[in-house]
Amino acid sequence: MATRRWLLLLFLAAGVLQPLAQPDSRGFISIDCGLAEEASYMDDTTTLAYVSDAGFTDAGTNYNISAEYLGFSRRGHNLRSFPDGVRNCYTLRSLVSGLKYLIRASFLYGNYDGLNRPPASFDLHIGVNFWKTVNMSTWGADQGNTATVEAIIVVPNDLLQVCLVNTGSGTPFISSLDLRPLKRTFYPQATAEQGLVMLARLNAAPVNKTVTIRYPDDPHDRLWYPWFDATIWAEISTTERVYGIGDDLFEVPWKVMQTAIVTRNASKNIWFGWESLDTEPRDDDPSRPGYVAILHFAELQLLNASNGDLRQFYINLNDELAYPTGFTPEHLISNAIYDTKPSRHSGYNFSINATANSTLPPILNAVEVYYVIPTTNLGTDSQDAPAAMAIKAKYGVRKNWMGDPCFPRTMAWDGLNCSYAAANPPRITSINLSSSGLNSDISSSFAHLKALQYLDLSNNNLTGSIPDALSQLPSLTVIDLSGNQLNGSIPSGLLKRIQDGSLDLRHGNNPNLCTDGNSCQLAAKKKSKLAIYVAVPVLVIMVIVSVALLVFFLRRRNQQPGSMKNRRAVKPQNEEAMSTSYGGDDDSLRLVENRRFTYEELERITHGFDQVLGQGGFGYVYDGFLEDGTQVAVKLRSHSSNQGVKEFLAEAQILTRIHHKNLVSMIGYCKDGEYMALVYEYMAQGTLREHIAGSGHNGGCLPWRQRLKNALESAQGLEYLHTGCNPPLIHRDVKATNILLNARLEAKIADFGLTKAFDYHNNTHLFTNTLAFTPGYVDPEYQATMQPTTKSDVYSFGVVLLELVTGKPAILSDPEPTSIVQWARQRLARGNMEGVVDARMQGGYDINGVWKVVEIALKCTAQGSAQRPTMADVVAQLQECVELEEGRAPSFHTGGSSGDENYNAYASAQSTDVSSNTAFETELRIPTLAADPGPTAR
Ligand SMILES: *[C@@H]1O[C@H](CO)[C@@H](O)[C@H](O)[C@H]1NC(C)=O
Ligand SMILES: *[C@@H]1O[C@H](CO)[C@@H](O)[C@H](O)[C@H]1NC(C)=O
Ligand SMILES: *[C@@H]1O[C@H](CO)[C@@H](O)[C@H](O)[C@H]1NC(C)=O
Ligand SMILES: *[C@@H]1O[C@H](CO)[C@@H](O)[C@H](O)[C@H]1NC(C)=O
Ligand SMILES: *[C@@H]1O[C@H](CO)[C@@H](O)[C@H](O)[C@H]1NC(C)=O
Ligand SMILES: *[C@@H]1O[C@H](CO)[C@@H](O)[C@H](O)[C@H]1NC(C)=O
Repeated sequence: MATRRWLLLLFLAAGVLQPLAQPDSRGFISIDCGLAEEASYMDDTTTLAYVSDAGFTDAGTNYNISAEYLGFSRRGHNLRSFPDGVRNCYTLRSLVSGLKYLIRASFLYGNYDGLNRPPASFDLHIGVNFWKTVNMSTWGADQGNTATVEAIIVVPNDLLQVCLVNTGSGTPFISSLDLRPLKRTFYPQATAEQGLVMLARLNAAPVNKTVTIRYPDDPHDRLWYPWFDATIWAEISTTERVYGIGDDLFEVPWKVMQTAIVTRNASKNIWFGWESLDTEPRDDDPSRPGYVAILHFAELQLLNASNGDLRQFYINLNDELAYPTGFTPEHLISNAIYDTKPSRHSGYNFSINATANSTLPPILNAVEVYYVIPTTNLGTDSQDAPAAMAIKAKYGVRKNWMGDPCFPRTMAWDGLNCSYAAANPPRITSINLSSSGLNSDISSSFAHLKALQYLDLSNNNLTGSIPDALSQLPSLTVIDLSGNQLNGSIPSGLLKRIQDGSLDLRHGNNPNLCTDGNSCQLAAKKKSKLAIYVAVPVLVIMVIVSVALLVFFLRRRNQQPGSMKNRRAVKPQNEEAMSTSYGGDDDSLRLVENRRFTYEELERITHGFDQVLGQGGFGYVYDGFLEDGTQVAVKLRSHSSNQGVKEFLAEAQILTRIHHKNLVSMIGYCKDGEYMALVYEYMAQGTLREHIAGSGHNGGCLPWRQRLKNALESAQGLEYLHTGCNPPLIHRDVKATNILLNARLEAKIADFGLTKAFDYHNNTHLFTNTLAFTPGYVDPEYQATMQPTTKSDVYSFGVVLLELVTGKPAILSDPEPTSIVQWARQRLARGNMEGVVDARMQGGYDINGVWKVVEIALKCTAQGSAQRPTMADVVAQLQECVELEEGRAPSFHTGGSSGDENYNAYASAQSTDVSSNTAFETELRIPTLAADPGPTAR
């Protein structure tokens, strides 16, 4: 107990040192450089909190820019300048090693130093790899221009340094620094070996020509700069949402995809290009940067294929086909054509021209261009580097101790020697910190430098005793501690090394150090006893204080069971392992495969439970983001919930066991004291019910093809429960509000709180004392017998099918409450087929297909369970309906068809809105290769 408290206290103490140097709940780090220490504010356009850079660097000086350059973006108002030292760095901590991040830095000179002379250039490094030379004149002569540079990289460690390097062409400075996590799958061209540096990211023909789209419209806060030229191109747009399908590698915000440029007639080309950064054009030279381009397309007009309408085009790079076939974007579906490997040319000229068969001009919605940088330099050994940083922090060493200790050689830390063996990370072999004003005890981190041979700490004010751990360093041959205030005696391990001749310990001129015999050992003992007398009461007091705090918190928690916001949970002392058996099955399941969250983690993930996604019998469901940026839904059990612990456990256990693409998957759970929560994959598009009603995120009416697809998907999910699980599982609460849609509008069954196992083998049918199900969906046989079977799910699914066909809810209230089953049967009996089908679909369906679905629905909702089909039958029949519908018109989605080895066609998309204003570096010349400055926003 005492140890635990201590750990907690130590942990808290350690946390105080860098309260702001951490990512926020989205995993974002947003730094306004040069802002007063401890200051922070919310950015108007993004609503993101920007913090001071004081917790991220210990060098440089803050300045405000000159009043005449004060712009609308607050981030540019101040900056940090680095007049001293060659390399100065920012350290970003608590990252996820191996994850992909977007890093963005911006620079606004604004005559901060009163010299009216921006630095000509300086270099930026990410970790030990060169990122970019920031050349202020590239952004034009105006001192009020903002230079922005951006890279996408895979971070090798949990901390990352961004360094400014003075190359003798002016004093480096920086205005802001952003870090945003990306999904692992994003931008496959970015790998551990190569990063992507942004040349351009352009939103073609934006609605508002001055707005750069970023967060929250782009959840990953990429900047999409406006790109248009009314004198050359026509513009088209839609107000409907554009979706992504398939594995979305780019998730372009739909706000970006909703607008596009087209040529004024089909015989004209869309074209754009840039020149390689390299000045000496040699196509075979691998040192020239390689470029990757990503072109985003979506059809925004409803084309009439039967009239022969066709938009089809070739994509050419330098007059050669870049993608092997003619390409036709799909209606409201985001597609991308992109380089999988960098290409190296002296100049790049893309043109997009219509094929001979095309009746419509080519289109382009957005384009991204990056060049690759190698990220293969090896930084100092992964144990040595943090130890060296800890030593630096402990003694406040300045010198040039910035960035990586050993790499590059020319910037290695003063006083350090390193060994550089090929293909291995550099190791620290010697440290000379003599006469450096060190005062406090000898850092234990020295003992982590396993390759250390020589350690000189002479002529400082070091106190305390000599740590014996130093004797464990195998290569250490010299320790010089002379000229300090050390006390105690020489530890036995070191004495042994001295005796066997493997170590030379110099300790002269330490007046309090005992180097001989018993007299000093006695003195040392006395001292240590005194220390214990003092330490014990302190310990006791601290334990008492912590227990009192704990009791206080627990009391408070019990006093206010309802509200869940802004409360800190104290870590429970004793958490029983979560395991119970479910149904008749006695094999008890442990929730070990899934991640277990603490309540505090959930608080962080959900940003203090600040956004409610929905509400169920269990409690509220909150929006959240994991450390890697994955959006999740957190279902927190409310204390007043009538859905009990048992249902919670049942759902958690079932979800741990079953995995299917049409069942909502669980990412983890929380059982922290009385708090219980389940963390699910995020289902961006809400419930099927909302979409049927037309109140969903897209507001429109779901087309028949989409309804059919969702019906098949949900049926497949249920079929898996019934036949893919052993014993079979009965969902018991199938309804349109328990079918959720993800961002790609794929349906998944959710809410397994009432799910039961069904044991065929023992024929011990399950009796339940409570009737589950929601009115309108209840199987009449189950209602009568209280005995659920898989056929009760089939009944409920039949009701969902009728909802899909009719667009009406399960229970109609007008003129009097009637079930949809009864309502449909009555109409059909009178031969009124048309009167059953949702009029809002305006005939956009094949009537035979709809009729077939109605037939399936009627069979599913047969009075007796024996007359109902199994879910497997239902899936087979729905499959036929889908095929029928697909034969009717062009395919709903082609997805992932791939071209030659360097290019892929691909489908993608995502959410959102409008914002910010940052200038844009334009080495990308649009639309010509001539010296056209291109779009700049200020
Ligand atoms: C910059 O301006 C702010 C507010 O106007 C002020 O509080 C701060 O002290 C100034 N900083 C410097 C370095 O002059
Ligand atoms: C910066 O860019 C300008 C114009 O592009 C160029 O003339 C100059 O040489 C560059 N300076 C450095 C130091 O690279
Ligand atoms: C474009 O956006 C800016 C900044 O949000 C706004 O001030 C302006 O009114 C908008 N223009 C149009 C035409 O909507
Ligand atoms: C389009 O470009 C391709 C490849 O460069 C070329 O072969 C074709 O003739 C062009 N088509 C038209 C209609 O200009
Ligand atoms: C153009 O249409 C004809 C006739 O439908 C077809 O044979 C030909 O393959 C099409 N060409 C292209 C490039 O799609
Ligand atoms: C040690 O500290 C004392 C007082 O704190 C100071 O006078 C002395 O100069 C320091 N010695 C060294 C070697 O830094």
